[in-house]
Amino acid sequence: MDRELNAAIEAALQAGGFLRQNFGKANALRHKSVTEIVTELDGQAEQIIAERLQSEFPHYGFLGEEGHRRESQKGFWVVDPIDGTTNYIRHIPVFAVSIGLVIGNEPVVGVVYQPMTNELFAAFSGGGATLNGQPIRVSQVDSLGKALLGSGFPYDAWTSQRDNLLQWGRAVKSAFAVYCTGVAALGLCDVAAGRLDGYWELHLHPWDIDAGACIVREAGGVVTQTNGKRFDPLGHTVLADNGRIHEALLTMVEEDQG
Ligand code: IPD
Ligand code: CA
Ligand code: CA
Repeated sequence: MDRELNAAIEAALQAGGFLRQNFGKANALRHKSVTEIVTELDGQAEQIIAERLQSEFPHYGFLGEEGHRRESQKGFWVVDPIDGTTNYIRHIPVFAVSIGLVIGNEPVVGVVYQPMTNELFAAFSGGGATLNGQPIRVSQVDSLGKALLGSGFPYDAWTSQRDNLLQWGRAVKSAFAVYCTGVAALGLCDVAAGRLDGYWELHLHPWDIDAGACIVREAGGVVTQTNGKRFDPLGHTVLADNGRIHEALLTMVEEDQG
């Protein structure tokens, strides 16, 4: 996976450099839904990544949030060119480029780049996880009461029953603290680096979570769906933590509690 990892890193750095240069210049192009916006730079950054990865790996498929799609039985890249578009558009310097590679229903490569802090998280299956080339590990925190958690809210929260408010309320009452920074990919990397102890969301997309899931696992953490089932790279939920608080976090997030 060396070639794939290096290519994903180069693509993330290139797209991230482009986004950094244009930081403060993005305008909302259109609303994907009432609370979900996209800028012209989302599409341009995805184009940079798609060109790089599709020319070098024509046998892999591609699943990009902004529309680049190609099917393949051999595996596929999963790309979010800007995770945290709301932050980006409001000039909050917290967003990331996320690139995963899924083979055989497992995320086997993960690269997440935060252009404004120049933090590059990277991992491949069996190779460990790194931050700017240095190995990272999940935290040792062993109870929810001591845990710093992250989460977020879905774009359809105005209308959906699965709005995460119940779970968020439980977290406020039982965890040390809970943060929402609006960038799921970085939330997962923060778990991998031991900055957060756990992260969950109830309604995401593969491009938000696949790269981060690989990075958390390679840092020694545990990643499942929010119902406790095996992580699904084409699924919509994620629950990731240091392993020590997994059962407690699952119980907290469980949806059919009163
Ligand atoms: C969003 C972020 C956010 C999460 C949203 C996502 P986007 O991605 O990951 O953390 O709470 O549900 O859609 O739209 O900025 O790429
Ligand atoms: Ca996203
Ligand atoms: Ca995005």
